[in-house]
Amino acid sequence: MPNIDPHIFVIFGATGDLTKRKLLPALYHLMQEKDVAANCYVLGTARSDWSDERFRREAREALAEQFSERALLRWCDQNLFYQSLGSDSQDYEGLRDRIQALEAEHDLPGNRAFYLSLPPRVYGSTIEALGEVGLNGGPGWSRVVIEKPFGHDLESARALNDRVHAHFSEDQVYRIDHYLGKETVQNLLAFRFGNAIFESMWNRDRIERVEITVAEDLGVGERAGYYDDAGHLRDMMQNHLTQLFTLVAMEPPSSMSADAIRSEKVKVLRSTRPIDPEEVVFGQYADGQFDDTSAPAYRDEPGVPDDSTTETFVALPLHIDNWRWQGVPFLLRTGKRLPEKRTQIAVHFECAPVSLFQQTDEDGQPCGVDPNVLLITLQPDEGFDLHFEVKTPGEAFQLETQKLRFRYEEAYGPMPDAYETLLQDIIVGDQTLFVHSDEVEASWELYTPLLDADLDVQPYPAGSWGPDAADDVLRTNGAATTPSTLSS
Ligand code: BG6
Repeated sequence: MPNIDPHIFVIFGATGDLTKRKLLPALYHLMQEKDVAANCYVLGTARSDWSDERFRREAREALAEQFSERALLRWCDQNLFYQSLGSDSQDYEGLRDRIQALEAEHDLPGNRAFYLSLPPRVYGSTIEALGEVGLNGGPGWSRVVIEKPFGHDLESARALNDRVHAHFSEDQVYRIDHYLGKETVQNLLAFRFGNAIFESMWNRDRIERVEITVAEDLGVGERAGYYDDAGHLRDMMQNHLTQLFTLVAMEPPSSMSADAIRSEKVKVLRSTRPIDPEEVVFGQYADGQFDDTSAPAYRDEPGVPDDSTTETFVALPLHIDNWRWQGVPFLLRTGKRLPEKRTQIAVHFECAPVSLFQQTDEDGQPCGVDPNVLLITLQPDEGFDLHFEVKTPGEAFQLETQKLRFRYEEAYGPMPDAYETLLQDIIVGDQTLFVHSDEVEASWELYTPLLDADLDVQPYPAGSWGPDAADDVLRTNGAATTPSTLSS
């Protein structure tokens, strides 16, 4: 692992929720673990007229919920700074001067990361303002980190890429998709390319279909302002599920370099057939029941307009026109207020070509042997399960499904937070887990026609697996109606 260079980590939107919940805890933990706190500083910026002291106090309170060490107080007092920032060029000159003053005071070499935890509509102007005062380059490295969503369709993503590239080269740009920081997502690469037994079966000859499910039990919460405008296709499908899809489907890269991996992912997107809007199901949760508690409809959530037609559920099949995957559907399904929080990739293998075993189901009716399934679980308990058939003890030759089971936490203890992994990569300059401009555009190219298609949004009861129509689309493509494999 490369060293962590001394640097200043500048957070835009430092008074916001992401800073407290994710960024500061991840930075603090990282600095303690790597023992580099002495040379790494955080400069928070936002419109609010806070002082260093106020920022430190807020940080201490937020971090105290997770950490109890005395080092925490020292870190907050010695390593955190704050600068209030408007949108004028003088404000950005002031920011540059403050950065330079901190660098001089702490004898830093001028390495800077700029993390935009901001509303997406100001990404472009913030990046331009940084460029105009010369903060896009410096005595050391300068990197800009952009949260999702990157654009709201193909055209806006291209326009944003152009604005970014006018000031920062692609190797300075870190587009975050926090799913890429999850250990199990990264382990997909190890699993596929480090184990010859699976890779040789990873194709249309052996795999019948792949189901990717990202289910959340929570509703929109307090985020209606952003979410009602974005919708679930933009919030989850275009980024998180698409990342999982490309990692499952990509060809082996020529090396583990960021460029080699990202270019294989782009090839998958470019080989994916345009999505037929007829096969897409959008849903919105109505009121319903969770374990005897009633849950409100999406339209009754705080801040959501009564007549909102925003989708909170999306199901669709993707088809890849290449030699490896021709004829194998990838069924993607994601929604809010589904029965449980579960993120899972189910790889369904083909049935045995000849069935030697006469099976009967629970009702005594003849049935086939269940095909093998590889379940890759990202949430809630990260790990792998391989389903296979065994003979049950006794005289009759009856088969039953059993599982080979692996859980990360049992083997390695708690997993690091995705943000900690990603922040470390930003600081050491590793772009493997970040989304390239080509990738983001290829993904929008796939989904933008659906945004323009004005699809019906069908209601589903909170606590169900989505609208009935989703079952039909998935069933037509060979999936179980409810995600039967969704348990481990
Ligand atoms: C975020 C979305 O990117 O991912 C949220 O904006 C969603 O709407 C969240 O709830 C899910 O992330 P995770 O890691 O909890 O699956």
